[in-house]
Amino acid sequence: MSQQSPFATTMEIPPAAAKPARVFSGIQPTGELHIGNYLGAVRTWRQQIEEGKDETMFCVVDAHAITVPYDPKDLRKNIDDLCLDLIACGLDPEKTTLFVQSDVREHTELAWYLASVTPMGDLGRMTQFKDKGEGKDFVSTGLFTYPVLMSADILLYKATVVPVGEDQVQHLELARETVRRFNHRFPGEKVSGKKPRPIFVEPKPRLSVTPRIMGLDGESKMSKSKGNTIGLFEHPDSFWKKLSKAYTDPQRLKLTDPGRPEICNIFTMHKAISPKETQDEVVANCTGAKWGCVACKKVLFDNFEKELIPLRTKREALSIEQVRQAMGDGAAKARRIAVETMKEVRQVMGLGSLAT
Ligand code: TYM
Repeated sequence: MSQQSPFATTMEIPPAAAKPARVFSGIQPTGELHIGNYLGAVRTWRQQIEEGKDETMFCVVDAHAITVPYDPKDLRKNIDDLCLDLIACGLDPEKTTLFVQSDVREHTELAWYLASVTPMGDLGRMTQFKDKGEGKDFVSTGLFTYPVLMSADILLYKATVVPVGEDQVQHLELARETVRRFNHRFPGEKVSGKKPRPIFVEPKPRLSVTPRIMGLDGESKMSKSKGNTIGLFEHPDSFWKKLSKAYTDPQRLKLTDPGRPEICNIFTMHKAISPKETQDEVVANCTGAKWGCVACKKVLFDNFEKELIPLRTKREALSIEQVRQAMGDGAAKARRIAVETMKEVRQVMGLGSLAT
């Protein structure tokens, strides 16, 4: 047995002989990449690229970002920044297909078609819609139909595995349901008496070891919209300043109080970032009331630094022209698959002139 990878995921990796999976995931360009995104998703994406077993595709989902009020100038900058960040994190465009969603128009086309098999009731039950829409003067139709576009992103490439954080699992369930509904509603015509293969396959979520990183306030998930984040590429001084004040076990008031690592967000991050021996040390010293929380955070910070220094160096060396070129190439690769899927979709749905 090979040694357990520190990036191990909760889902079993298929045996070598199995057909390679097509892995797809996306991230919104809505502000700085934070450590929750990194530990919950991006780090797992890099791991899957490095394993080299599966075909991987990662997408900067700008069309999702316009579902809440925004400034076009900021969006443009956020797209550039996120592309730089992702490549610096190890999403090497030579080894994966990395692209910007709106560069492949088929995403929005398929979303419209999938909307015809998606009940409004299902969309109204989505937790993210309730969270983002509640109490707002203006709630766009796009925010409501957001999960349909997300299903389209995945189904367009017939992806089988979708590595995401826990907050996206409900959307994934809807995507699976959409596959069942679509394949049932549009089975295609029989060829020589045989039923055709359904167009879409059900995608499965894949969670990292840390699928939910809490915010620094300890009240909710770390999230750009809550302002409770630490930026992945933040200067080490402010990174430490924020980490040193982060919420821990509320029962631990004095150094002599034993702590509970299993409920502490700092320990969750150790599980992703620190070696196994350090994790064991944290458990012993926290439950034994030997280390204070600041000491425990300092160890975590040092391990973050070990991981982040090479990423920062890489980011500084990248030019935006180089990155934009790579994103254009990525979109061209993605489009080749998207065009083929859409031909099948239009055909089974009876759309178009069928001339192409
Ligand atoms: P987004 O942009 O909010 O987040 C990107 C990824 O980071 C994960 N994540 C977290 N993981 C752990 N702890 C946290 N605190 C945390 N915050 C964010 C998210 O779960 C996600 O995996 N709807 C998606 C984007 C999307 C998508 C897709 C994903 C659009 N189309 C198709 C997969 C497949 C979103 O808003 O992610």
